Amino acid sequence: MRQIPADNVPDSTLSLLFDGYEFISKKCQKYQSDVFETRLMLKKTICMLGQEACQVFYNNDLFQREGATPGRIQRTLFGQGGVQGMDGTAHRWRKQMFMSMMTPESIKQLSDLVADQWDASIRKWEIMDSVVLFEEIKEILCRAVCTWAGVPLAESEVKQRTDELSAMIDSPGAAGLRHWRGRIARQRAEEWAGDLIELVRFRNLEAPAESAINIIAWHRDLENELLDRQIAAVELLNVLRPTVAAARYVIFTAMALHRYPEYGQRIRKEKSYDEFFVQEVRRYYPFFPFVAARVKKEFEWKGYFFPTGRRVILDLYGTNRDARLWESPDEFRPDRFEMREENAFDLIPQGGGDFYENHRCPGEWITMEIMKVALRFFTENMEYYVPEQDLSMDLTRVPAIPESRFVIEGVHRKN
Ligand code: HEM
Repeated sequence: MRQIPADNVPDSTLSLLFDGYEFISKKCQKYQSDVFETRLMLKKTICMLGQEACQVFYNNDLFQREGATPGRIQRTLFGQGGVQGMDGTAHRWRKQMFMSMMTPESIKQLSDLVADQWDASIRKWEIMDSVVLFEEIKEILCRAVCTWAGVPLAESEVKQRTDELSAMIDSPGAAGLRHWRGRIARQRAEEWAGDLIELVRFRNLEAPAESAINIIAWHRDLENELLDRQIAAVELLNVLRPTVAAARYVIFTAMALHRYPEYGQRIRKEKSYDEFFVQEVRRYYPFFPFVAARVKKEFEWKGYFFPTGRRVILDLYGTNRDARLWESPDEFRPDRFEMREENAFDLIPQGGGDFYENHRCPGEWITMEIMKVALRFFTENMEYYVPEQDLSMDLTRVPAIPESRFVIEGVHRKN
């Protein structure tokens, strides 16, 4: 049996904070290996990168999610009792609930709502001196996803709910105030979502049959019981929160167009080029750095021993930039997707494997459609310019966002 290369330091948490998104890939390079072992927050952790690692990581016989997510992430990003920490048949059953929301008609409804909200916002932006796009897009997405999900949202509530949903996304990788903001936001949002679930169950809130809130409120687990109020709240937030999170990808789309304006023309001219562009944005820009699981039953992989219970993290960002999978990975080249063969284990910004069987993000199609709506507005339906500003991104800030939050000026509707 080979020894997994090990970091010769008592704990690598500081180095993780220092290197951020590049933590695993830098170490893998140092050890010339797809896998190494270290301690993170004092716990032995195996870190992995690349397509083969991804394939093994998504093998449900070898890995489980129960007990894999650190408490600080549960108390901010995920909540407790949701689909992310489930395994086996129970996971498959709960996951099916999410996948049932992702029909083509339903996704189209959401992207139309996003476009309507965007349209309405342009009117406002036209009379503003400058627009901080990130803040505006979060609000557009919050309004759209609440309508889509059957969640009532009074005008006076929009800012508060947008801020809460965003704080949960912004906080898991943070310490201090930013982290605490996320915890408080989760507590408040779970209360709110729980109340809404009860309103539906007591028939005091009417929601369309296929809406997310209705599906979640009436979902029955394998014992034929309705979900606990708190768990239903967590699952409703599992739809609202990440849709608002897609604002980051909208900003990355805007950044890519700004930096590589030559693609604007191609997107306008070639029917399917938006797909390639959006895929490259998801590959190239940093979102979630990694995902965690635990070894379910000891096994051997490439001669390395993985003991039962060991925490393992898979590098999403590093795999998306792995030179063995992507030619010139640090260059932004949407053309690379023109000839690409579908593969569930190489482009993994939202996880890998199978949507139904694994923990791969059920919101991938929604995310891409939102990005395509954004692309249409940026390239066809509005004019704007990008003033001088600090667009740098700190790769130790998780999740990353450009310093200026992308400011635009001189907005005008086109056609
Ligand atoms: C899971 C990323 C949008 C709902 C995940 C995972 C990642 C991810 C990395 C974990 C994969 C794993 O554990 O193996 C993203 C990113 C998004 C996004 C970067 C873009 C902003 C969405 C949307 C929705 C959604 C729009 C729902 C409408 C979920 C849920 C899970 C999940 C429910 C848990 C799935 C499971 O455990 O089986 N996402 N996501 N996400 N995502 Fe997303």
